[in-house]
Amino acid sequence: MCEFVEEFDEEGTSLKTKKYEGKLYTTIIPGNVKDHLERIEQMEVRDDDTFVLSYPKSGTHWVFTIASMLRTGKSTYKGSPDFLDFNDVDVLDKLPSPRIFASHMTFDRLPRQVREGKGKVFVVSRNPKDVAASLYVFFMKLENADFSGSWEGFLRFYMQGKMLYGSWFETLFDWERTKDTYKGDNIMYLVYEKMKKDLSSHVDKMASFLGVTYDKPFLDEVTDRCTFKTMIKTVMEEIKPQDQDFIHKMSKEKKLPIYRKGEVGDWKNHFTVAQNEAFDRLYEEQMRDSKCKFRFE
Ligand code: A3P
Repeated sequence: MCEFVEEFDEEGTSLKTKKYEGKLYTTIIPGNVKDHLERIEQMEVRDDDTFVLSYPKSGTHWVFTIASMLRTGKSTYKGSPDFLDFNDVDVLDKLPSPRIFASHMTFDRLPRQVREGKGKVFVVSRNPKDVAASLYVFFMKLENADFSGSWEGFLRFYMQGKMLYGSWFETLFDWERTKDTYKGDNIMYLVYEKMKKDLSSHVDKMASFLGVTYDKPFLDEVTDRCTFKTMIKTVMEEIKPQDQDFIHKMSKEKKLPIYRKGEVGDWKNHFTVAQNEAFDRLYEEQMRDSKCKFRFE
């Protein structure tokens, strides 16, 4: 069973979590974590199910939106994905196909059938400095966020791995291990910064990976509708009313707190010189044996 844990320090930094088997989960995961994870493990997967996996603020909604357009053949926005983490499995079981799920959990926590090759998985990663800036601002926009405190306190916790879903580094290493050991061909690895550089070729590759074929005008339309510029302008006007309800409840500003800057390098507006130097030291040390290289600007 999980335990409720509140990490805090003397400077008023606080992070509320549900802790299970040493990992920190968000408090909105249903029930006691253990039962929920067991139900996900046994979930019935359909051949056309798609899973978008990420550490928070790595571009989950972006990849979800592209995947949902490619799966449905329609360039309409769907709002937010159905998260494995936050929804009761009975609800997920009843969703109509094609289902596009998201999760901030790693491969070992996916339904067993996915780990046996059923469905398709997109994993998206983003450089850890932009993730930190995005996640902090996101927490500040939420009503009753699990985290409260200053940017300085946030960065201290983040660098110590005291964060929802644990350390950014551990999550990346977990995916690197999956890449090295998992023999299935149902995972595609994406990098936020590379998508920013060339979205069109990513849309093409994602379509091939899903095994769907479209003419060039449709793929161009998906690309155009999924640029940050277009999404930030039109998503709110087009998403379903029930998603808007959810957003109203969670956001202080009563608008979708997801689309913000959509840039590579916004971390520079948040990190001080000293914080950046400390982070670079941690990054060097942690990433010594990693094959991944991230672009920070
Ligand atoms: P910023 O806060 O840096 O702007 P997630 O969906 O995992 O919560 O990630 C949210 C981050 O992805 C936000 O980053 C958001 O602006 C960015 N994002 C969403 N759609 C995007 C797009 N079409 N292009 C680039 N970035 C996008």
